[in-house]
Amino acid sequence: MAISRIMETMEYGPNREADETARQWLAERRDRLGLFIGGRWRRPDDAETFPSVNPATGETLAHIVQARPRDVDDAVAAARAAAADWAARSGHERARYLYALARQVQKHARFLAVLETMDNGKPVRETRDIDIPLVARHFYHHAGWAQLMDAEFPGFEPVGVVGQVIPWNFPLLMLAWKVAPALAAGNTVVLKPAEFTSLTALAFAELCEQVGLPPGVVNIVTGDGRVGELIVTHDGVDKVAFTGSTSVGRLIREKTAGSGKQLTLELGGKSPFIVFDDADIDSAVEGVVDAIWFNQGQVCCAGSRLLVQESIERTFIDRLKRRMQTLRVGDPLDKAIDIGAIVAPVQLERIEKLVAQGLDEGAVMWQPSWSKPQEGCFYPPTLFTDVSPASTIAQVEIFGPVLVSMTFRTPAEAVELANNTRYGLAASIWTENVNLALDVAAKVRAGVVWVNSTNLFDAAAGFGGYKESGYGREGGREGMYEYLRPAWHSKAPPGSPSGVTAALSEAGRASADGAGGAGPDQAPSERKTAGAAVAIDRTAKMYIGGRQARPDGGYTRRIYGPDGRLAGEVGEGNRKDVRNAVEAARKAGGWRDMSGHQRAQVLYYIGENMAVRRDELAGRLVAMVGGTEAEAYAEVDSAIERWFEYAAWADKYDGAVHKTVRRHITIAMPEPMGVIGIGCPDERPLLAFVSLVAPAIAMGNSVVVVPSEPHPLAATDMYQVFDTSDVPGGAINIVTGARDDLVRVLAEHDDVDSVWYFGTTEGGAAVERASAGNLKRTWVNYGRERDWFDPAQGAGREFLWHATQIKNIWVPYGE
Ligand code: NAI
Repeated sequence: MAISRIMETMEYGPNREADETARQWLAERRDRLGLFIGGRWRRPDDAETFPSVNPATGETLAHIVQARPRDVDDAVAAARAAAADWAARSGHERARYLYALARQVQKHARFLAVLETMDNGKPVRETRDIDIPLVARHFYHHAGWAQLMDAEFPGFEPVGVVGQVIPWNFPLLMLAWKVAPALAAGNTVVLKPAEFTSLTALAFAELCEQVGLPPGVVNIVTGDGRVGELIVTHDGVDKVAFTGSTSVGRLIREKTAGSGKQLTLELGGKSPFIVFDDADIDSAVEGVVDAIWFNQGQVCCAGSRLLVQESIERTFIDRLKRRMQTLRVGDPLDKAIDIGAIVAPVQLERIEKLVAQGLDEGAVMWQPSWSKPQEGCFYPPTLFTDVSPASTIAQVEIFGPVLVSMTFRTPAEAVELANNTRYGLAASIWTENVNLALDVAAKVRAGVVWVNSTNLFDAAAGFGGYKESGYGREGGREGMYEYLRPAWHSKAPPGSPSGVTAALSEAGRASADGAGGAGPDQAPSERKTAGAAVAIDRTAKMYIGGRQARPDGGYTRRIYGPDGRLAGEVGEGNRKDVRNAVEAARKAGGWRDMSGHQRAQVLYYIGENMAVRRDELAGRLVAMVGGTEAEAYAEVDSAIERWFEYAAWADKYDGAVHKTVRRHITIAMPEPMGVIGIGCPDERPLLAFVSLVAPAIAMGNSVVVVPSEPHPLAATDMYQVFDTSDVPGGAINIVTGARDDLVRVLAEHDDVDSVWYFGTTEGGAAVERASAGNLKRTWVNYGRERDWFDPAQGAGREFLWHATQIKNIWVPYGE
């Protein structure tokens, strides 16, 4: 095209990225690409294969192996065999490998970008400028964590063998997000790329060979969801990390329930993009382009719900349409393309179906006047207006270049609309008013919030969701914790009572058996009332919304001491009591909004008031659990100390300002989970109760606690302490009765954000299974008892970490 002609039309000239290197790489491996297991390539002669297709052209690029069960077994075995040696290497040694991988990625950056574009259909402009540089950045950053492991994570150890399953939208980047922290922490991995996009993962396996990574540290097995399922359910896998659809995430939660595997889930989203009337409109329009047309909208954190303040709606939508008209859809290898191909026909059909549904539901659709390419898997940028907040397209993740737009009048309404979703991955807020921006950022329930920006990522910041967008963080220090566990775990295997507490627990179990056999209200006649240690003059009620509450069912259960004497009675809680308690906890918003210092004062006060009742509480322990007086006093004193410890933490468990991209502040803020359901263990019934409740409320959560089933009286004694310590009603709620049944109700409850359970292996499995409903975060002990006296096991950062979730807020600065 003549330059004069170009100047006349301002059309883009063709500017296609060369693909020879990638084609040559594919040609050399046409029938050889296989599985990478234990440092060797495996492609059985009779292997089942499936094509990997370029969605822009329909061309088959390679035939990928569908791994068999025995291949997955071998990959897990290879990872296991490599685990001890890899974990035992110094952080510096691991850092060198990660650094070498980062360098290899940089050296082959253009090749990897082109291969990714061919396999996935995303514009090469993005793979070249975003995906691959971020891959390298991730390995660099985690080379650093490997180097600093001993200094920065004392008391933690690698989890072991990690099974990782990733999606197709950022194939190599998701691999980096998973592999880099796992390796830095000293784990070995078995990773499965998505079936649509396996090629760059296999190219990465070659880079592992090139840097001489010890065999078995990284294993790549390919195949569809069946292979994914083999990995996540494999007995030899200690931790599962998954990114993908919420439906598969839920399935994985159910299938791994009770297995003892650590789990992180990075799932779907329907993220709000909020534009206030004082926003810089042109910047915000450009923001929308990045939010929903980056990677064809196939982004879990895509800003797919545009919320515009009513007064500027018309202007904003007009300018947006004008901008949409200039977007270019086409050959992803063309460097001047904005929107490439949808990953596969099945995804295209899904988008078309949801768009048709949007039209059926009465929303108004707008697309640019130009036509998209006729061949290949393309879809034009699409805008829906007149969308009802409850409609399908406003609620369901479309995962395509489709934006739905709604309006709001006030900031409060914007927050309400933004939070009107089961997801909580990200949000983008546009206003020139920093007060408003940060106020809304704090109120939006999402793991990542971008102020006057969108879709910014960096290895130093955590990424991950609230609510049904999953749990766990990837990136930064936050992400490292997901691949570590407290070192004492390996010395106390699951299902084994710790030596220290076994004796007491035995006593507890004996009395529990007795009570259980007798039914809630009918004690064997030979049982006698306890002696003078504690006078039994009344039934301990439940504690709901700051008030003593009678059990809804009207039943009580008798509690016996180790000698078979009656130690007291408690209410027999039921489903309704749990629901009332959750409602009360949900209403205790004032507690969450208090400053750390204010909460600290309440916690100190609880400790002080507990000290006043020291004799009574120790007497109760002796009567209820047995043991010596000295032991009982030690338990009470440790519990008092716990209140002081978490009072101390209340204003000190800080977030961070991450060092991410230039001219941005990235604030990592630990926020309370919300309402936490807690099932207490039988061992150390007072100390464990306090050790669990104190960190949870110190961080601003409200709790519904089910005390130990055989030994609930020490916990119910505490409500008199709470009553006199300025604890606001609803911050702490206590429901007594059949612990596992009650905790299961909490785990099923949609208004509970997290459940902690310290009891039996089976009880923990039931909690994890039930949590799949709204994908709440859980913390269960798999029957592993703790030594609650030991500060390493019974207190500290592990508890605070479970009591909070990190929100990362990105704020740009500069003119
Ligand atoms: P998917 O969740 O089925 O696939 C993600 C990965 O999980 C793939 O590697 C797949 O092979 C694997 N997988 C599938 N079934 C599995 C199972 N039972 N056990 C273990 N692994 C399994 O996602 P899909 O079908 O590719 O896309 C469907 C929708 O999911 C998309 O339209 C989008 O809405 C959502 N999605 C969200 C992603 C995100 O990052 N949030 C990424 C990919 C898809």
